[in-house]
Amino acid sequence: MSFPASSLANRTVVITGGFGILGLAAATVALASSARVALIDRGAAPATLDPAILAIPDTDLADFEAAQAAFARIVERFGTVDVLLNIAGAFEWRPVAESDSDLWLRLYRANVLTAVNASRAALATLRPGAAIVNVAAAAARRGGNGMAAYTAAKSGVLRLTESLAEELRPAGVRVNSVSPTIIDTPRNRADMSDADFSAWVEPEALAQTMLSLASGETTVVSGADVLVGAPTSG
Ligand SMILES: NC(=O)c1ccc[n+]([C@@H]2O[C@H](COP(=O)([O-])OP(=O)(O)OC[C@H]3O[C@@H](n4cnc5c(N)ncnc54)[C@H](OP(=O)(O)O)[C@@H]3O)[C@@H](O)[C@H]2O)c1
Repeated sequence: MSFPASSLANRTVVITGGFGILGLAAATVALASSARVALIDRGAAPATLDPAILAIPDTDLADFEAAQAAFARIVERFGTVDVLLNIAGAFEWRPVAESDSDLWLRLYRANVLTAVNASRAALATLRPGAAIVNVAAAAARRGGNGMAAYTAAKSGVLRLTESLAEELRPAGVRVNSVSPTIIDTPRNRADMSDADFSAWVEPEALAQTMLSLASGETTVVSGADVLVGAPTSG
């Protein structure tokens, strides 16, 4: 699946959490659209990564200095940052009574601080027309059993999106988010083996939505959150 070549060709797309399921799907879609692609992740780069991709492994984006170092490498290689997809994140199910400060801080760091630090590190390189797209979660629209720490963190991503959109509007930089329901990933299939997988969102379709929000075709949309779920027949 690719994207209209005119909107992403030769633009630099930076993807955090780039070695995860959605990150790799977004890299594939962006690359097929002739974008220049950089992936940042705290893990090791997959051996099968396309050599055209700039891979920046072993980078904990909860650490602002590490984020700055990653963006310095990207600017050195590609010159600009046009699109930032803040995909890094983490999920843990845990009732409040069984949670501890470490869990709350871990999910806050993985979901909120990574997006804050990547955005801050990118700011100086973002020109009018640039766009940031964050990943929240449909589940974050309301708390639920075992979901407090995760939904609190993803609610933080929504508020970050709205605030940064207002702050960057004068600079011509747009900031939006997507809220996926359940993404069709191997981990989710293993965790919910009895579920109807056809009701889940394909990573490529979600990646396409994120790049669509970032592209020149939605130039007046900023501060929005887009609920992304697979269509159902009912
Ligand atoms: N999967 C779903 O059903 C679902 C639903 C709604 C929203 N989301 C959100 O969608 C996004 C992508 O989900 P996914 O399923 O593709 O997750 P994934 O495969 O776990 O990918 C997330 C990536 O982010 C990395 N990461 C986490 N914290 C980081 C940090 N501090 N610095 C740098 N990299 C970091 C992870 O590294 P590690 O592997 O080392 O943790 C992982 O490679 C996440 O934000 C997730 O919360 C997912």
